[in-house]
Amino acid sequence: MTERRSFKWPALLTSTGRGIAFGGDYNPDQWPDEVIDEDIRLMRQAHVNTVALAIFSWDKIEPREGEFTFDWLDMVIGKLGAAGIAVDLASATASAPIWLYAKHPEVLPVDRYGHTVNAGSRQSWRPTSPVFKEYALRLCRKLAEHYKDNPTVTAWHMGNEYGWNNRYDYSDNALKAFRRWCENRYGTIEALNEAWGTAFWSQHVNDFGEVQLPRHMGGDAMVNPAQQLDYERFGNDMLLDFYKAERDAIEEICPGKPFTTNFMVSTDQCTMDYAQWANEIDFVSNDHYFHEGESHLDELACSDALMDSLALGKPWYVMEHSTSAVQWKPLNTRKRHGELVRDSLAHVAMGADAINFFQWRQSAFGAEAFHSAMVPHAGADSKVFRGVCELGGILETLSEAGLQGTELEHADTAILFSAESEWATRSQTLPSMKLNHWHDVRDWYRGLLDVGRRADVVPLAYDWSGYRTIVLPTVIALSAEDVRRIADFAHAGGTVIIGYATGLIDERFHIGLGGYPGAGDGLLRTMLGIRSEEFNILGPEAEGEPVEIRLSNGLTTRLWQNDVTSVAPDTHIIATYQGPAAADWELDGTPAVTSHPYGTGTGIYVGCDLDRHDIAQLIGLLPAFGGEPSGKTDSETDGDATHAPDPRVLHTVRRSPDGVIRFDFYINRATQPVELKDIAGEPVLAHRCENGPDLGGYTLARNAVLVTRRVE
Ligand code: GLA
Ligand code: GLA
Repeated sequence: MTERRSFKWPALLTSTGRGIAFGGDYNPDQWPDEVIDEDIRLMRQAHVNTVALAIFSWDKIEPREGEFTFDWLDMVIGKLGAAGIAVDLASATASAPIWLYAKHPEVLPVDRYGHTVNAGSRQSWRPTSPVFKEYALRLCRKLAEHYKDNPTVTAWHMGNEYGWNNRYDYSDNALKAFRRWCENRYGTIEALNEAWGTAFWSQHVNDFGEVQLPRHMGGDAMVNPAQQLDYERFGNDMLLDFYKAERDAIEEICPGKPFTTNFMVSTDQCTMDYAQWANEIDFVSNDHYFHEGESHLDELACSDALMDSLALGKPWYVMEHSTSAVQWKPLNTRKRHGELVRDSLAHVAMGADAINFFQWRQSAFGAEAFHSAMVPHAGADSKVFRGVCELGGILETLSEAGLQGTELEHADTAILFSAESEWATRSQTLPSMKLNHWHDVRDWYRGLLDVGRRADVVPLAYDWSGYRTIVLPTVIALSAEDVRRIADFAHAGGTVIIGYATGLIDERFHIGLGGYPGAGDGLLRTMLGIRSEEFNILGPEAEGEPVEIRLSNGLTTRLWQNDVTSVAPDTHIIATYQGPAAADWELDGTPAVTSHPYGTGTGIYVGCDLDRHDIAQLIGLLPAFGGEPSGKTDSETDGDATHAPDPRVLHTVRRSPDGVIRFDFYINRATQPVELKDIAGEPVLAHRCENGPDLGGYTLARNAVLVTRRVE
């Protein structure tokens, strides 16, 4: 594994340099200069102490090729600094100027059909273009030289959401780079032929010069899934290399300041392999956009759980979220009932020490004019801006209570996430095209919350050996080494829960033979004490067939069942398929969920998909969580012996690194008020809470957040 850069947190311009960072993307480029003083007045009113600046300002800084002018940016930074507002300065390369595209159309990406992408939006450049790189790095160096000693610039914000529009490029630059990448990965052409299984459909290549990108191959022609998976890795690596080149160009001139780039992790976005990216930045930052509907808070916590693991438990930064609606979904719901403040505090509860929005002032024109902001179209006399001001005050209160720098307490269960499995499940060559690794992670996360338990979400590649239980939902690709680590964990006493589509392939998209799941040359099956032979795939498309199957314990499966044909003598069957639909599919009485002792631990197999409610019910039955059937006892490990887990609240603990001071966060997950009793600690914040009749009793209204502090 790559060595990680050391953790470095951006300073504020406060007397101590400390405090929870609060602000947002600031785009004064869109406004006449007169607005800036008004902006700063409102920022101070809202307790804003930091902004991300110049993200899309390349054409302001270099209006014509080679003509660099910093007057405007100097003026903006000068005013911000004088007001005590720190600047997270962008490398400004996310959106290149039109003159660059006009002069060098060869930097524009090419889509899989061979069409060149047009200029005029953003990230319209090839990560592998040497021409674009030259221009981008020159801009980075100019910025670094100009601002290296500027005390207002306290962090570097590299690019913006690398990969958002240029994740997939099929240009000739990409082809050349892909061939080099393949040579580095495989060394010999024989190794590549083996890995890609080129014996299939006459795909043998004689040397790296014959290797192709998985461009459109006509009709509905299917791409070799191993080639496609490598292309996903390659795209990730090229953007990461580009980020590193930009970072290094600035760091050579301006060493010592912290670098970040904003990740994109929320329900339907997990674009890059951030387990790798997190090694190359100094502090982890994320752009999180909420999911409309009842999963809103849970999904936020699930995404944040991955952030906290990427940050190795250190505080992390919300670089962007929204005060209310976005404008880029088919349906853009707004926030209400205090969700503006609640979402921000939920991020803090999950370990964030910086709360920022896209963007400060809502645009009056352009593609994002209907995206909410801190100062909305209605102006400062608005519910949204009052919410922003209230939030700024709350964050200051939390800072003063000493919250900044405390760390999120870990759960005892880790749900494992793998970007490679996420990419692999998108392949159109699998038994079902409805697989979604990240959604299954979220469903397990929510199922656990529904029984009052919080899990961590940890990258497969990281160290999860300290947990008691690991869950692998649809981690479809497992290498032999991954399987060995998992089996060792169980052998040493851990509990492993393997989902229905986990371990079907290895990292080369090869299927292990002898029965499913085949990863690890049979070791996964041995650990689980099961062997399955076929997949039973359901769906309304199969008209006239049963569309769901019941389990003996009352649960229901709707997508995928593994046909388990043999179990080891010591495998305990927790549930079987039952009823007429099971009989119709020839699964009647066969094992659906099993548990198997392995070493001093346990391998649990959940051989079918379950929705979040059924996962919650199942968790109640599993030995790892105190249910039947093993002799293992399950002590309460949420760190709070006085409280039984309460599914109506999201409860997290942040502790000072020396463990002495703890902050407890209680957030109402329900739409109805929740009463909590016997809450220990001094209240630091009781947002939308009322004191209950008892000492330590509180009533938490919808979206309420209670924070208490105690010294232990
Ligand atoms: C067609 C092709 C075969 C194979 C099958 C799969 O019939 O001729 O090569 O791809 O489809 O169903
Ligand atoms: C992303 C981008 C921002 C903005 C927001 C809108 O996060 O980084 O520039 O486009 O989306 O939600």
